[in-house]
Formats: sequence, structure tokens, C-alpha cells
Amino acid sequence: MKNLEIVRSTFKAKFEAEGSVYFSPGRINLIGEHTDYNGGFVLPGAVDKGMLAEIKPNGLAKIRAFSIDLNESAEFGLNEEDLPAASWARYIFGVVREISKRGGKVEGFDTVFTGDVPLGAGMSSSAALESTYAFALNDMFGLGIEKFEQAKIGQATEHNYVGVKCGIMDQFASIFGKAGHLIKLDCRSLEYEYVPFDPKGYKLVLLDSVVKHELVGSPYNRRRESCERAAATIRKNHPQVEFLRDATLDMLKEVKFELNDEDYMRAEYVIEEVQRLLDACEALKKGDYETVGKKMFGTHYGMSKLYEVSCEELDFLNDIAKECGVTGSRVMGGGFGGCTINLVKEELHDAFIEKATKDFMDKFGVSPKVYDVVIGDGSRKIC
Ligand code: GLA
Repeated sequence: MKNLEIVRSTFKAKFEAEGSVYFSPGRINLIGEHTDYNGGFVLPGAVDKGMLAEIKPNGLAKIRAFSIDLNESAEFGLNEEDLPAASWARYIFGVVREISKRGGKVEGFDTVFTGDVPLGAGMSSSAALESTYAFALNDMFGLGIEKFEQAKIGQATEHNYVGVKCGIMDQFASIFGKAGHLIKLDCRSLEYEYVPFDPKGYKLVLLDSVVKHELVGSPYNRRRESCERAAATIRKNHPQVEFLRDATLDMLKEVKFELNDEDYMRAEYVIEEVQRLLDACEALKKGDYETVGKKMFGTHYGMSKLYEVSCEELDFLNDIAKECGVTGSRVMGGGFGGCTINLVKEELHDAFIEKATKDFMDKFGVSPKVYDVVIGDGSRKIC
């Protein structure tokens, strides 16, 4: 592990000591996008890339942190008023604060970290960072926080210290990931199931549009508000509808004239997406990847035309995938940039990548980045 040596030598150079090293991965999501905060299902998996941090208690009432990738230091206290200025440091601070709010006693520590999950590519680098510290601080200070609560600590960090009202998917996938498996999570009951994923004859590949996906201050929170408004309107006729996950298209149609067009389209996408995920899971059980792929294209269409979280570059990559006979392709994660996820037959993989790279370069003047997906394990202590 190349990053391990870097983390170790940097920590030693900065703090003249040796701490413990923890890792948490980024994630992919096969299908089920923007369903988590609507009480629906998601189907993520952890990847083999993520954040690696070395940490050691320092006996002080403060945190001294160093980001290797940004070559920046930050020093801050443990109390609410000690909010650091650097946005990267707020992830660490937020995790510490959320643990404290839950009664966990975190003491001062020194830390350095680095990552190989690309930033802003929609692979949840920020959740990987939060999960690393939630997992590590729990382990290091013996806090006894169970894994779901660790994921919620990361999510609350986004809500309260970053400003993104995200769902639970990213932090959950990072902490619970398992090599060779996707995880079907019911985001309302938090029941989950590991689904073996080894599509023989296919590859999963990400094409990064290199359009930086940035959820902070983005219309992400507005999407969530639209969904909540639509659910509340439907609930007037159907009290059992807690989230859009409980609604049907017929229920939505009943309130068509009470909702603005935008809220209607957002809700239509979510209701369809919940069903697409369930259909895809059924198909996966049968090894029917052609159906899974069709659902992925359906998701892309919905995210682009109804939820409006795609962009020209991602639509372009999706069109090329179609042209090349790729089985399934769609924008992955929150959207507004980042990657497409592609399920492609092995024999088509190279030609697809070649054409996508060339055509994208011709049109946008940059090369998309290509990541072959390896489904890896979740948060863990390395040494
Ligand atoms: C981001 C959020 C997740 C989820 C996805 C879209 O990654 O952090 O909670 O809403 O977008 O599925």
C-alpha cells in the first residue's frame, strides 16, 4: 500500500511519534439514486479506494491535523465554538462534535491523512473521510458506538458542519462495505442484505467526466425539499405515505395540480426509481444483467430529464455507452458532475473506453478518467 508508507512517514516527520492507521473506502451505487432520503432502497458497494489516516491521542485539548494531499495543516479545539476555517478540517471537527453530542468522550489527537478516492467524482470521498474518523475515534477511545451510529455521525457531520442534507447511503456503504458484495439497504428500516456481485463476463467501469461534482451550496438540498413537499401533499389524501417511497404514480397524479411542475417531476423520478431498484434486484438474483442494464439506462434518463442532476458531459458519455452497446450506463451518485457507472460486456470494454475517451476529448478538450471498479471491504484498522 503506497499510501501507507506516505502516511507513516508524514506522521513521523510531523509529530515524531507513531499512531494507529485506519482506512475507509469510497463507494459506487449500482442503482437507486436520490432514494435514500426518500426512505427508499439503495444498492451501493464499497470500492478499493478511500481515505487513510494515522491518528494518535496527544494529551492536549486540541486536534492537530494535516492533509497530505492539500499540504495544509489545521489546529482546532474540541468545542462547538472551535469550528476550523478550512473546509476539509470541518469534516474531522464535525465527526468529533457529533460524537460528543452523543455523549462520547473524544480527547485531543494528532492526525495526518491522504486519499486515493478521486475528489468530486461522485464516489463519496467526503463520506470516506467522515467514516474514517468516526470508525477510528470509536476504536481508539473505546467508545462502543455501533456501526450504524458511526454512519449517522458522518451523515450528521454533512448536515450540521458541511451544509449538505444528504441521506445515509454513502457513510453506510463506506462502513459496511464487503468485498465482492453490493448491499441492498432499506433506508427507512435500515435493514440490509449483502448481495453477492460477480457478474461473469461483465465489467463495471466508471467514466469520470472531470466536471467537479460539488454538493455544498448546490441544488441537492432543493431536490430534497421538492420531494418532501410532494410527499406532504400526497399524504393529505394518503396518510400512510411517510416518504415518497410509499407513494405510487397514481397517488402522485391525484395531486398534479397542487404541485408545481418541478416538484412533480422530481417526485415522478423518485417513485419510478424505487421501483427500478426493486426490479433490478430481482433481475440480479436471476443473473439477468441485461435487465439490470436497461434499468440503469432508465435511471439515467430520469436523473437527466426529470430530476435534472445530469449535465452535458454526462449525457454525452451516456449516449456513447448506448452507441457502443454497453449493457447499462448512468450518472452515479448525487449528480451535477462526477462519473457515469457502466456495466459492460468484457469483450466490448476496450472499444468502449477507447471511443468514449476519443469522442469526449474531441468534444470537450479533456480526457475522461477511467476507473475499473473493484468492490472492497468497509472501514477498518490497518495497523
Ligand atoms: C449523494 C448523497 C447520498 C445520496 C446520493 C444520491 O451521494 O450523499 O446520500 O442521496 O447523493 O443517491
